[in-house]
Amino acid sequence: MNETIEMKLPKDFMLGAALSAWQSEGWTDKKEGQDSFLDKWYKEFKTVWHNGYGPAVATDFYNRYQEDIQHMKEIGLTHFRTSINWARFLTDYENAVVDETYAAYIGHVIDELIANDVEPMICLEHYELPAALLEQHGGWGSRHVVDLFVKYAEKVFERYGDRVKHWFTFNEPVVVQTRVYLDAIRWPFEQNTKTWMQWNYHKGLATAKVIELFKSMPLREDAKIGTILNPEVTYPRSSASHDQEAARMYDLFFNRIFLDPAIKGEYPKELFELMDKHDITFDHTEEELAIIRENTVDYVGINLYFPNRVKARDIAWNPEAPFHPAYYYEKFDMPGKKMNPHRGWEIYPQIMFDMAMRLKEEYGNIEWFIAENGMGVENEARFKNEEGVIQDDYRIEFISEHLKALVEAIEAGANCKGYMLWAFSDNVSPMNAFKNRYGLVEINLEDNRNRTLKKSAYWYRDVIKSRTFSAPNDEIYK
Ligand code: BG6
Repeated sequence: MNETIEMKLPKDFMLGAALSAWQSEGWTDKKEGQDSFLDKWYKEFKTVWHNGYGPAVATDFYNRYQEDIQHMKEIGLTHFRTSINWARFLTDYENAVVDETYAAYIGHVIDELIANDVEPMICLEHYELPAALLEQHGGWGSRHVVDLFVKYAEKVFERYGDRVKHWFTFNEPVVVQTRVYLDAIRWPFEQNTKTWMQWNYHKGLATAKVIELFKSMPLREDAKIGTILNPEVTYPRSSASHDQEAARMYDLFFNRIFLDPAIKGEYPKELFELMDKHDITFDHTEEELAIIRENTVDYVGINLYFPNRVKARDIAWNPEAPFHPAYYYEKFDMPGKKMNPHRGWEIYPQIMFDMAMRLKEEYGNIEWFIAENGMGVENEARFKNEEGVIQDDYRIEFISEHLKALVEAIEAGANCKGYMLWAFSDNVSPMNAFKNRYGLVEINLEDNRNRTLKKSAYWYRDVIKSRTFSAPNDEIYK
């Protein structure tokens, strides 16, 4: 047994949980032509979706949100983060015609959360790009789609801007195009590094344009807008300069490409040089760069699960292959690393502290919070006790270790305002579907998707109430 230590959380520290629209709501009331990119992928290439589960029913949140919000209340979540499904919010993307049925549902969810003292946090895109815009315009490769996103955002702000304080443009904007166009491991398996870069840029531009719009609208006075990023804390294999350089390159291509424009209002100069060198520079105008410069975020949400480890390449890049940033690095599999054996991800709570110090030192100590962190576990039902409650002590330990690192970062001056667990309930992940369970609340697929609180839900409830928790004391983060 580890020795434990009592930790105290700041009084106003947000302690909540997250989900997204497409991962929870299901297709009830969805109209023809309202597929999102994820819906389309599921329809076109179902074989890769674990056990055939996907967005079609998901957790059926659309029909069961009242029940779920009662569970949120019972746990005492201060905040709940989810998204609005762009593909479903409109019936006509060009003219931003609102789907009144879906919009009413979103309105009810927001009202119900507020009535139960759970503050809503709303994200405008958690991969829910309308499939029609991918087919007709190439998705985020198109500047026109950026403008359509701004039109959609305007309708959303008009409807809920009086009630919602926390707004975000994207969740993990780097992910879809990296899996699809860079690594080509997901449908529609179309490798194109330049397209990858264009999507990155247009999402950065879309964030700035939506912020510009946000500032011009009569919303709640205390309303704030940010974006939710997943920069990976990237550790080089060694102190040798070639390994250090590999980590720096990874950071430029995957982290700074979103962090810098969102927070500092500009792209790193070196990134432009690298893009030119490899002929992948995104199309842009000076006017757009000015919009990015003038419209930075109020705060950022950071999704952080595991460390990223890289080393210099041992084998030279294949000159015939299209350019990939891996030209400059290879993944490094560190011997002896602590693993979450149920998911295959390394566990290294130091990432919380290191990310916090980076935001403090390199990004002006901007306000931020953990927007996702959590532990995925396969076959979790095997941990049920006689009463049928999943005894997820491993999750309690995981959260405590990560929260401890965060508290120590705050003591060292980090401007971190909260922790949002992934996830409120088990849900459907891209492709992995219900394989890795993340929730405080179990979704029982064998029994009509019934909900049961796990042991961690009761533990989290006590943490939120007492603002204290005990954590293993075998590491001090610095
Ligand atoms: C996060 C995503 O990075 O990973 C979530 O934002 C996703 O949408 C989560 O559900 C877990 O993914 P997986 O593959 O472990 O089930």
